[in-house]
Amino acid sequence: MDIVTRLLLAGPDPDAVARLVDEAGLAAVAAVLVDEVVFRCDPPANTHPVHVVLDITAGTETARTALRLVRDEPPTAVDNDAEPVGMVLRFTAVDLACRLFGGTRRGGDFGNRFLPAPPRDHAGPDPLMRAAAQATGTIMSGLAAAPALGELSVRYGSDKWASFHWYTRHYENYLAPFRDRPIRLLEIGIGGYGRELGGASLRMWRRWFPRGRIVGMDVVDKTALTAPRVTVVVGDQSDPGTLLAVAREHGPFDVVIDDGSHLNAHVHSTFATLFPHVRDGGVYVVEDLQTAYWPSFGGVDTDTAPGHTSVGLLKSLLDGLHHAERVSAATPGATAGAVVGVHVHHNIAFIEKGRNDEDGLPPWIAGRVRGEGAASS
Ligand SMILES: C[S@@+](CC[C@H](N)C(=O)[O-])C[C@H]1O[C@@H](n2cnc3c(N)ncnc32)[C@H](O)[C@@H]1O
Repeated sequence: MDIVTRLLLAGPDPDAVARLVDEAGLAAVAAVLVDEVVFRCDPPANTHPVHVVLDITAGTETARTALRLVRDEPPTAVDNDAEPVGMVLRFTAVDLACRLFGGTRRGGDFGNRFLPAPPRDHAGPDPLMRAAAQATGTIMSGLAAAPALGELSVRYGSDKWASFHWYTRHYENYLAPFRDRPIRLLEIGIGGYGRELGGASLRMWRRWFPRGRIVGMDVVDKTALTAPRVTVVVGDQSDPGTLLAVAREHGPFDVVIDDGSHLNAHVHSTFATLFPHVRDGGVYVVEDLQTAYWPSFGGVDTDTAPGHTSVGLLKSLLDGLHHAERVSAATPGATAGAVVGVHVHHNIAFIEKGRNDEDGLPPWIAGRVRGEGAASS
């Protein structure tokens, strides 16, 4: 089992992290922790380049990483001392891991040394001190809870908020219960066009779910976006065999998001294949329902979308949700028995999976009030 998986499983358990450090070695664990902090932190704000040093300790051992921070560049690990050290931050590996992957903040979990070696010929203390404070704040933001999902969407360049769509407020509502759990999320459609590799939403999910494993699938090869906790698969969602292989290898999933081709036929076939691989209590999301009305996507421009469209699929799920109320006492199919909620907002739907086993009206009252004589078989 790799170090990231073991850290995710260890969660808030300090003994499990300590055992991992013993077995895998401090250097290997520290490298994973630093990578996670650097990924999570806000973009650097300091215009004056400065180093922040992370010392990660276990017993008498220390793993040291110097990070160079300056605005418009990602924090980068460096082994030269061309820039002044603005701050040394000290963490034990156990405390840092528990904070990042367990959501716990243990008492006295870090220490610092401020400006250990400001060079005399430097531009002066004020810009350096300000840069050091900004850069240190940037690194510490990597240990904090994630910002709002809309902010992350804009930061990484997804269109899920303040762009073509306003989806993240709905995601925040429906996915909040999964935030701190070691979930598995599959998103079909990674995005990025032309020379842009994309991956905006994969980064957004990785940041928002601190213990989540994210799988992205796209018909275009985007495997270069593979990162800790992020797996990228090449595949066409129109092929159920490919979807099944992904589900068998990486599922079952807590969350599946269909943000791929948005062709209505694909929305149907992808749902039919993947919904059985969503865990009970999980959520299946379909984005961009507008294509139900667009002929170029196999939709129909009518007041009432027909069954073969994405909106038609949702309407059939509503019927299945109420199977117990049918006068003809229809036996529910596997999907009807497993859909417990269908929440539709402008262009996006959240389908909740569970056990749809609520009874309908009891027989001694049903016959009188349901108009069974009028039932169609
Ligand atoms: C709207 S973008 C996804 C945006 C991304 N999820 C985000 O929120 O930033 C749609 C993606 O679906 C991919 N796609 C299109 N047809 C597909 C198919 N048949 N199977 C899998 N992916 C497909 C495209 O290559 C494109 O990257």
